[in-house]
Amino acid sequence: MGILKSSSFYFFYMGQKLRPWKTILPIEIASGKAVFVQIAEGIASEIKRGRLQPGDSLPGSRVLADDLGVNRKTVVLAYEDLIAEGWLSTAYKRGTFVSEQLPKIKRAVEQPVKKASFDFYAFKAAGDRQQTPAGANLIYFNDGLPDVRLAPLDELARAYKRIFQQKARWRMMGYSQEKGDDRLRKALAQMLVHDRGLSTTAEEICVTRGSQMALYLTAHTLVKPGDRIAIETPGYLPAHETFKRAGADVVPVKIDEEGICLEALEKTVKEGAIRAVYVTPHHQFPTTVTMNAARRLELVALSNKYNFAIIEDDYDHEYHFGQRSFLPLASHENAGNVIYISSLSKLVAPSVRIGYIAGPRSFIDSVAALRLIIDRQGDSVMENAVAELMEEGSITKHARKAWNIYKNRRDLMETLLIKHLSGIASFTKPEGGLAFWLKFHQEIDTRELAERLDKQGVAVIPTECFSFNGERLNALRLGYGSLNEKELAEGIAALASVLKS
Ligand SMILES: Cc1ncc(COP(=O)(O)O)c(C=O)c1O
Repeated sequence: MGILKSSSFYFFYMGQKLRPWKTILPIEIASGKAVFVQIAEGIASEIKRGRLQPGDSLPGSRVLADDLGVNRKTVVLAYEDLIAEGWLSTAYKRGTFVSEQLPKIKRAVEQPVKKASFDFYAFKAAGDRQQTPAGANLIYFNDGLPDVRLAPLDELARAYKRIFQQKARWRMMGYSQEKGDDRLRKALAQMLVHDRGLSTTAEEICVTRGSQMALYLTAHTLVKPGDRIAIETPGYLPAHETFKRAGADVVPVKIDEEGICLEALEKTVKEGAIRAVYVTPHHQFPTTVTMNAARRLELVALSNKYNFAIIEDDYDHEYHFGQRSFLPLASHENAGNVIYISSLSKLVAPSVRIGYIAGPRSFIDSVAALRLIIDRQGDSVMENAVAELMEEGSITKHARKAWNIYKNRRDLMETLLIKHLSGIASFTKPEGGLAFWLKFHQEIDTRELAERLDKQGVAVIPTECFSFNGERLNALRLGYGSLNEKELAEGIAALASVLKS
């Protein structure tokens, strides 16, 4: 057996910037093959595989020789051979590069050479509606996201800077608590107690990466395969998918002008016990309706009578503009079975990925134990920065500013819809949230509508994905929050012209 030497050498970009990954070059001294040939073949093979691309810089001969433990002349010979064969080129005083004359070869990672015969159980998410579709100047009526152009970026950057300047900054760099940063949980608990009427403490909160992770952790903590979970229909597809993935038997329950229908829910419970019901009472997703006070009390009473949990997804609590103001179900006196999920995605920005679950201590401890084996912990630095913004009041200030902007956009949206779409569609002005629910007077295939609008530079979400019982919705959820006045006006005009044509 010969001696194997391998060099983990770093390749450089044209600008001599260190690449973030290493390449292994195996050399077998006793193989009988000249070492310079082995080096040359190794580099040529990296180029053929696409891991080294035209223009990539190679290490200097001395560096590579040291790394491989060979004579520098051996490396020089290998480089000379590769230059003669056209694989490499040299530039005076700048070093040795992969020749620019070579055709660009697709990187190995983009072009898998190995084909798997094993069945890995492919999993495909049912629709990715959150990403902004590609396209310059596209007007995208998303499903109710905030305008990230308004996000408090300067405040966040300042908080980050302060955090990295503090004396004990190293403390944040280790593993921390799976429930989330202490400081953030305390700030969240304070906000939930004072602004949303919950009786909770930092120990009864688990910070997650967005409410989507909160839903996932809740589902996998709460559900055993075959458990029945009731869910609003039309409703939030990623929640539906999450419960299904956890093995639940997901039972759609219809909604009306006040949210989930309690007669239908009770009927479902009588047909077979349910483990939980998933609801969006503040602004029902996708129809935007707000659950009234009486129904809230009744729902809590039902959960106690039949002993099931309520998963309350309060995804955009802060943007409520109506006369009536509602506290979450979780704030009710008898709401012992309520698991409250919320997020800072609408308040700060979706990319911040901070959500949270508030619930009974034993449940939160189980959620945290599950989180430990998925993700270990959240982003402590970001959590600290957001806690700082909450403590100093920047978040409240931002919320107030954003609230006014969104309220004006909602009013403008109402005017535009009346002006352009009267006779074609009707709507109830939403009391809150960042979307309208437009109901068409005639049957409309929203997939086809989306395709036609796309040609006009306008994107909408086909409504079919919100229905879990096969019901045709004949409606459109139009998120308005992330569009300014001009974009709203152009977008609604385009929608009207396509609908009328
Ligand atoms: C009803 C509902 N729940 C949950 C989420 C997830 O939000 P995030 O994971 O960004 O907190 C969204 C996002 O738009 C939503 O509309």
